[in-house]
Amino acid sequence: MRLPHPIPYQGSKRNLADKILSYFPCNVNRLFEPFAGSAAISIASAYYYKANHFVINDINEPLIQLWDKIIHHHEDLVSEYHYIWHNQIGREEEYYYEIREKFNTTQKPEYLLFLLAKCVKAAVRYNTNGEFNQSPDKRRLGRTPSNMKIAIINVSQLLKNKVTFLALGYEEVIKGATENDLIYFDPPYQGTGQNGGFRYKQDLNHDDFVLSLFELNKKNIPFILSYDGRTGEKHFGKPLPPALNLAKIELDAGRSSIATLLNRVENTYEALYLSPSLMNKLPLKMEQTYFQTSLF
Ligand SMILES: C[S@@+](CC[C@H](N)C(=O)[O-])C[C@H]1O[C@@H](n2cnc3c(N)ncnc32)[C@H](O)[C@@H]1O
Repeated sequence: MRLPHPIPYQGSKRNLADKILSYFPCNVNRLFEPFAGSAAISIASAYYYKANHFVINDINEPLIQLWDKIIHHHEDLVSEYHYIWHNQIGREEEYYYEIREKFNTTQKPEYLLFLLAKCVKAAVRYNTNGEFNQSPDKRRLGRTPSNMKIAIINVSQLLKNKVTFLALGYEEVIKGATENDLIYFDPPYQGTGQNGGFRYKQDLNHDDFVLSLFELNKKNIPFILSYDGRTGEKHFGKPLPPALNLAKIELDAGRSSIATLLNRVENTYEALYLSPSLMNKLPLKMEQTYFQTSLF
């Protein structure tokens, strides 16, 4: 089965989820996704029974309200999306801007879902007043109500009674984690071809984030971090301090769209970092692979 993915979201880890999950230890109690976005890793982990409970957090409050509605009020959301989507027919562009205006006034999650389904590259962008200001993709109508319905219902079944939603800064959320949990970080900082260059609700302070990682190491709380990457020889993202003692793995994220535009055939590699306490929980055989792959 193709995993359900109701929220279209640029930077989603949907295509790398299998590879990322292969570094999960056994017996994860709670999976924390402090920078959840479309929560691709929580969805995949729920599908493969990789954790008992999921803590899905994002600083973007309407996005978390949308998540809550997907899981707990999916009948309402399905019918609202159906209604909003069909009403665009015949005056698509003008209608998109009306919905965008309504979203900026009311912050209602059903409007956000339509905007994400229909906007350019499913990329959230906000102006300095915090208003959603992404333009419509004029070539398409956005995911059809029948496809959206299937994704919403399937995700709701996967996560119901197993999820806590929060709309906080990541620092607050990870305070609740223990040694039996796993944190998957996908912060907005890195600048790979796939993830970079677009504005979320908030940028990240690199130094504060690194300090949080040191704290987690001190408390033996395992984490996985998607952080930087490279296309060909060009590296993206500030280096992490070696004292964090992380093992680095490079995941092939496929053909780089920027390189293709420049008539070059180059793949983008996204880096994944494993914390020392996670490494201790993984089989020795795998650990050797990390040491080989971490010599970049
Ligand atoms: C790269 S995206 C995550 C994509 C996600 N892995 C997925 O599969 O869709 C980063 C997310 O972090 C959120 N974010 C930015 N700053 C944050 C903060 N300080 N605390 C929590 N979330 C934050 C953004 O709103 C954005 O949704």
